Amino acid sequence: MRKDLGVKTYIYPQPVLIIATYDQEKHADAMNAAWGGISDSGEVMLSLSQGHKTVQNILAGSDLTISIATADYVKECDYVGIVSGHDVMDKLEKASFHTFPSTQVNAPIIEELPLTLECRMKSYEDEIMFVDIINVSVDDGILTDGQIDVDKLKPITFDPAHHTYRQLGAVVGKAFQDGLKLK
Ligand SMILES: Cc1cc2nc3c(=O)[nH]c(=O)nc-3n(C[C@H](O)[C@H](O)[C@H](O)COP(=O)(O)O)c2cc1C
Repeated sequence: MRKDLGVKTYIYPQPVLIIATYDQEKHADAMNAAWGGISDSGEVMLSLSQGHKTVQNILAGSDLTISIATADYVKECDYVGIVSGHDVMDKLEKASFHTFPSTQVNAPIIEELPLTLECRMKSYEDEIMFVDIINVSVDDGILTDGQIDVDKLKPITFDPAHHTYRQLGAVVGKAFQDGLKLK
């Protein structure tokens, strides 16, 4: 038997994206965003409330980096999602995150998060932002044979029903191949 749950944002898995920007004094800020994803090749869509310091930084000229939150930094990634840079200037220091400037865009990279998309805003309308991916920066500690190793990255996902974070699980199939058995 199926049950109706009404209008809920229950897409699984949801990402945990950590968006980092600079303010006009080159002070780094970051926030947590679950509502985002690939919208085209080389392009990401983010649903971002305009009151966030992150959005104001971007509208004032900062680029942005989008890092994938990992199981090793759950409390730090959650912290940047519950405290605003408007209220806590040294938010990243409080989270014990360290940053260095991207060489590709005008935005900080968080050292502790090993997979980072370096991005530039294309548009922002009705709180939906489209950004171009300029480059992907990766710590080589999460690579195996030159490719992202998900077991080393340990990405977490957001469960909107229980407000919990979960680590991405085991391989259960091969994309573009397993379905061929039914063709
Ligand atoms: C799990 C989680 C997911 C979130 N997803 C979003 C999101 O998709 N869009 C958004 O605008 N805010 C989202 N937030 C809220 C912002 O991260 C939060 O308001 C943050 O403090 C904004 O920081 P800032 O003002 O320094 O930019 C999320 C927070 C958490 C904890």
